Amino acid sequence: QVYNAGGHLRVVSTKPMPGNQWIQALTSVGCRVEVCVENKTILSVDDILSLIGTKCDGVIGQLTEDWGDVLFAALKKAGGHAYSNMAVGYNNVDVEAATRHGIAVGNTPGVLTETTAELAAALTLSAARRVVEADDFMRAGKYEGWLPTLFVGNLLKGQTVGIIGAGRIGTAYARMMVEGFKMNVIYYDLYQSTRLEKFVTAYGEFLKTQGEAPVHWRRASSPEDVLREADVISLHPVLDKTTYHLINKDRLALMKKEAVLVNASRGPVIDEVALVEHLKANPMFRVGLDVFEDEPYMKPGLGDLPNAVVVPHIASASKWTREGMATLAAQNVAAKLKGYPVWPNSNN
Ligand code: DGY
Repeated sequence: QVYNAGGHLRVVSTKPMPGNQWIQALTSVGCRVEVCVENKTILSVDDILSLIGTKCDGVIGQLTEDWGDVLFAALKKAGGHAYSNMAVGYNNVDVEAATRHGIAVGNTPGVLTETTAELAAALTLSAARRVVEADDFMRAGKYEGWLPTLFVGNLLKGQTVGIIGAGRIGTAYARMMVEGFKMNVIYYDLYQSTRLEKFVTAYGEFLKTQGEAPVHWRRASSPEDVLREADVISLHPVLDKTTYHLINKDRLALMKKEAVLVNASRGPVIDEVALVEHLKANPMFRVGLDVFEDEPYMKPGLGDLPNAVVVPHIASASKWTREGMATLAAQNVAAKLKGYPVWPNSNN
């Protein structure tokens, strides 16, 4: 699909994206926009090479694509200068390779913060209160009447929520859990972000003015402290060498037997094979997962476990957010092609 066929700068989007603001962001600065409508969920490097072709100024790509040396070299050869992921995470992008080839890289931080945190909250509630299990039970016609013991789960109020990765999304999630469910907080952030601390301090002051009980919170000096102490743990780190399999067999063993673990960051942050074993051995331990180690697949057994809630990487999937991500990705490319810097985390 082509927009503004006469535009002098050729920009390719490897997928159709929602809304039309993103198209305007590009066509208004003289771009011809080509959208790949190929009916394949994940494009291979070869597919993308043929999209880049012999002349291409910029590309908007997706987190399912492997943006490494081969693609950036081809983009450079085709006269390109700009690449943007339509995602905040960019573990699929080799920024060093892009830099070597003189390609600026952008991503889409900010617009998806609240939506992603909301989905992490939804997974927390679903896992803690066994919503999906109960829904399955109901639909299977198994409900024969109220029972004191039917689908007993965990009450969040007054429990401790543990956050690993306290950046934008981790802090928004903490805010939802603290304000909404009166949870206490323990958190660990590798980059020593002070965002979450600022929120809990300010909220504590507010509670004081209302004469309400304070929120107890502390910054942990290791992920282990969070895992040992928290009743609910939500993972929000970036995926890199330091966070690959951050949650492994040994760390799972530190967690409370009835804890809830939520992951809406990246799948490889958890060793999924170890997780399946842990879930089997600890039926009261529950997880809510939006992401998986080998997407689109789940490790064998995970999908059969009643103590796992699994959804297909939809944390940022609200209409407003997805349109915002597409627009920001397009603005990144447009900015670079017009000689302006692109969004944070860029290498230009
Ligand atoms: C991201 O943006 O990194 C999410 O995983 C998809 O919204």
